[in-house]
Amino acid sequence: MTSSYHAIYNEWKSDPGKFWADAAGEISWDKSWDKVFDETRNVYGEWFSGALCNTCYNSIDRHIENGRQDQPAIIYDSPITGTKRTYTYGQLLVEVEALASVLTQQGITKGDRVIIYLPMVPEAAISMLACARIGAIHSVVFGGFAAAELATRINDASPKLIISASCGIEPGRIVEYKPLLDEAIDLAKSKPSATIILQREQSPCGLIDGRDFDYGQLVGEAISSGAKQPCVPVKATDPLYILYTSGTTGEPKGVVRDNGGHMVALKWSMPAIYGIKPGEVWWAASDVGWVVGHSYIVYAPLLHGATTILFEGKPVGTPDAGTFWRIIEEYDVAALFTAPTAFRAIKKEDPKGELLKKYDLSCLRTLFLAGERADPDTIQWAEEQLKVPVIDHWWQTETGWTIAGNPVGLGQLPVKYGSPTVAMPGYDVQILNDEGNQVATGELGNIVVKLPLPPSCLPTLWNAEQRFRDAYLTEFPGYYQTSDAGYVDEDGYLYIMARTDDIINVAGHRLSTGAMEEIVASHPDVAECAVIGVNDKLKGQMPLGFLVLNAGVNRELTEIEQEVIRLVRQKIGPVAAFKQAIPVKRLPKTRSGKILRATMQKIADCEDWKMPATIDDPVILDEITEDLQSRGMAGS
Ligand code: COA
Ligand code: AMP
Repeated sequence: MTSSYHAIYNEWKSDPGKFWADAAGEISWDKSWDKVFDETRNVYGEWFSGALCNTCYNSIDRHIENGRQDQPAIIYDSPITGTKRTYTYGQLLVEVEALASVLTQQGITKGDRVIIYLPMVPEAAISMLACARIGAIHSVVFGGFAAAELATRINDASPKLIISASCGIEPGRIVEYKPLLDEAIDLAKSKPSATIILQREQSPCGLIDGRDFDYGQLVGEAISSGAKQPCVPVKATDPLYILYTSGTTGEPKGVVRDNGGHMVALKWSMPAIYGIKPGEVWWAASDVGWVVGHSYIVYAPLLHGATTILFEGKPVGTPDAGTFWRIIEEYDVAALFTAPTAFRAIKKEDPKGELLKKYDLSCLRTLFLAGERADPDTIQWAEEQLKVPVIDHWWQTETGWTIAGNPVGLGQLPVKYGSPTVAMPGYDVQILNDEGNQVATGELGNIVVKLPLPPSCLPTLWNAEQRFRDAYLTEFPGYYQTSDAGYVDEDGYLYIMARTDDIINVAGHRLSTGAMEEIVASHPDVAECAVIGVNDKLKGQMPLGFLVLNAGVNRELTEIEQEVIRLVRQKIGPVAAFKQAIPVKRLPKTRSGKILRATMQKIADCEDWKMPATIDDPVILDEITEDLQSRGMAGS
């Protein structure tokens, strides 16, 4: 099949309004838009101005009206608890309506915020959809974050209610959610009026009288009483959710997603980018706490009338590196979407793919990778093992869908290893130098997107419009700054090379080294510190801390190291994967006092590096090299 990509991209470019109006024909609207795009509104204009719609209606009710009542909507497979459960669209509606009516009884109405702090259980998706049904704004917080991170999000979103669980389950340990939740509510200035707690049999928890309610009991009663909760029409531009993501400071950014544009872009992406037809089984092996989970575990497959798999487990160890293959065979999965790190983990455990031979994977057509750079070794290994196209694509929490990809539904373009391929319709991607001028083909620069951004992309940051402007729109006027650096080749293929800020990507999870530095620096024995991301064979990157201790501290260094590691785990959470903190005499700095993190990173990664012209004292780099070598790094 020759690709229609170029024709379709040009169609978008010549008339973006018509392109997105056509795509919007796939969505049911309560009221059509006055303007497809109104450039006079909001920070950079807004999509589907004046339209009314409901995301839950489009994700569930509409499919039931069209005969999908008995088709599986969500298949929950949890090897970590030994549980499997299927919800048809009809059953999903019953659950969602029941919870929506419980939320309504709790006083939740349109525009109220609800935080969802749940592990990978179907109730997470049900909670998101129940909020969408009544026009409440959900904010899902990833389970691997600690109480302090949850508290920050509670303060910013000021939720009326929190939905959580008694526990999550990680390999070899139960994560008690309730103490984390209670601590977060204690820490937060803004207090929710109620919490709804899903009791899990692996570790039920005590409930606080008058504040905590039992999810199973309330929803069970609502179902028995046949509770119905109609979909509330909301403006296309009203927020569907807030998803917090790491920014360049310790304060996470509340990325806002609207209802209308989000539905249109996601619905368009399912057939065009992923080549999926309604009724097929689709699996995004991520977590609902991340944007991939929001878009491709929950909303896109359901908006499309597909079946989505909700997997509670790991690619390895639950019980082995054959779990992914078992799921693909058992449910007839047409396409899998995950982060490269998951495949690196499988490859490490089963390099020859012995476990794979036990399964019939003939149903699988494509593997999609995103979330971090897909290294050519991993892509090639996956291609050899699965014998299907392996497609890298690039996107961000801020966009909610692909910026650059290889749209297999439009006809796959040739794969070039190391490139997520080409810009999707909606995105005019350009590479600018620091002065804001376009660079030549093949030259590295700042990757930017010409405004306006397409539907689904963030209209603003929650409660922080100025921060939105400052972080994304100010440095290159007229463009959205992605904070990724890269280049475009002669065929228009994009290469994503590095972040231009302090963000690192650990096992596909986006983390801020600046946030870690703030915590490390709060240790009483630490005078100053630096945290960098260093290459890691499995997780892509791992954080590495350097500590300069206060004069006169003469405690055991390993004790201080362990305290600092514990502090980061306690404040950010285990997901930070902060496992190494090295005491050093001094940090290398420029003469103006800027810490030379990039040079330290190159040394740690054994890359070529040049002595920075502005360095204050070059000897410090030798000291750092020796310290790293004494830990088995920096080419020791
Ligand atoms: N709740 C509580 N703790 C969690 C958690 C959750 N939802 N998710 C992860 N953690 C913990 C882990 O148990 C681990 O704790 P530990 O330090 O005590 O071992 C820590 O956070 C780090 O987790 P992670 O970086 O995920 O490492 P891992 O060793 O548990 O697993 C992989 C490594 C590669 C198997 C895993 O990261 C993976 O499957 N990644 C897939 C990528 C993905 O989902 N990306 C999302 C964007 S597409
Ligand atoms: P997140 O917001 O968590 O999805 O992280 C977004 C960041 O992850 C991007 O800005 C990139 O730095 C990185 N990223 C995501 N996908 C890719 C990819 N396919 N290739 C390279 N980097 C990626």
